[in-house]
Amino acid sequence: MLGNFTYHNPTKLIFGKDAMTSLAGELAAYGPVVQLVYGGGSIKRNGIYDQVMEALAAAGKTVVEDAGVMPNPTVEKLREGVAIARENHVDLILAVGGGSCIDYAKGVAVSVNLPEDVDPWQKYWVDFDEPTCEVVPVGSVLTMVGTGSEMSCGSVITNHEAKMKVGHVFANPDVFPRFAVLNPEFTYTLPRYQMVAGIFDIMNHITEQYFSGTDDNTSDYLSEGLMRSLVAASRAAVKDPQNYEARSNIMWCATWALNTLVACGKATDWEVHMLGQAVGAHTDATHGMTLSAVALPYYRLVMPYGVDKFARFATSVWGISPEGRNAEELAAAGLDAMEAWMREIGCVMSISELGADESMLEGLADSTLIMQGGYHALTRDEVIEVFRASL
Ligand code: NZQ
Ligand code: ZN
Repeated sequence: MLGNFTYHNPTKLIFGKDAMTSLAGELAAYGPVVQLVYGGGSIKRNGIYDQVMEALAAAGKTVVEDAGVMPNPTVEKLREGVAIARENHVDLILAVGGGSCIDYAKGVAVSVNLPEDVDPWQKYWVDFDEPTCEVVPVGSVLTMVGTGSEMSCGSVITNHEAKMKVGHVFANPDVFPRFAVLNPEFTYTLPRYQMVAGIFDIMNHITEQYFSGTDDNTSDYLSEGLMRSLVAASRAAVKDPQNYEARSNIMWCATWALNTLVACGKATDWEVHMLGQAVGAHTDATHGMTLSAVALPYYRLVMPYGVDKFARFATSVWGISPEGRNAEELAAAGLDAMEAWMREIGCVMSISELGADESMLEGLADSTLIMQGGYHALTRDEVIEVFRASL
């Protein structure tokens, strides 16, 4: 553990089939007006909305509905949410959904009490400033697993006009959700495409942190355990999406993959997310699939710069024997094993499938931020090379 770090995560997690029974009690700690944030209506079809409304009624809350948060929430929607929160003087923002709803709720929470002439997009997603105003508390009921937003300070907002999709990981601990209700059964109604996208998102959150640094680091051993658990659980969930054991393990892996634990002492990379977010900014495609479409060309390009770690990945995560292989061969075999797993569970393997084409390569490169924490910082030509190999 060579790096310096502070670990502080104040989110209270309530996990399991009975988790919802705690919601009314959790709500009691906040004021009377709750902004209920949700997406396009899945929670009305699967009954989660009714359960949430029951808990809100039991806690005696006045509910202000804020529906229609789209996957990859936009800056325009964010401005609408801020207006709703200001008009109703809300005491708590309760996000019921996946990462999009929770990220959006955090975005509203840090913006409500800004002076009217301060633009939240500019302040938080361009200048990466911290809140200079009171942050409205956020709580969540998770229905889609992958982003880890339920226990993180991250909020990703898309600006289609600027062709930018930007994540801000806030330093202010008030931005963490105060509580998260995690019932794995709530994920049973997810379309298979979303389930698989979430699984790859989790895997990539772990590898983004794992593929950095050369020191012996406890965080890497934790990451390897999480990746092994995720691979086993994903195989079971793809065969039987109603397998509670598998879905609960995937949910728990997702939370620990991105709640800062496995980043402790690490430089961390995040370049796959930068490439994937560029694809998202241009195509509005599903987040996890934008990552799966670019990850292998990226990792194959940077592997020679971090070959020992990629070799360790092959043996520790995929169980590949080092016997008869040099480090390069072992490292390559590990990435081949990850590719076989990605194909087995149904990941999207090319950006063409997501609506990108050759004519977009320069624009995609313009939208890609270059990170410095991995084994190799990409040049612009290499960014284009990765996108071309991902077509
Ligand atoms: O809108 P509804 O109707 O609810 O449908 C949603 C949406 O279409 C559906 N869904 C969710 N739960 C369901 C369900 N359908 C049936 N049954 C259920 N139980 O799933 C679709 C996708 O939901 P969304 O919230 O968009 O997915 P996800 O959780 O993957 O969130 C994606 C957003 O999070 C950002 C992404 O970039 C993207 O904007 N990320 C946030 C991060 C963070 N906060 O740190 C990190 C991640 O890397 C990621 O970038
Ligand atoms: Zn992600």
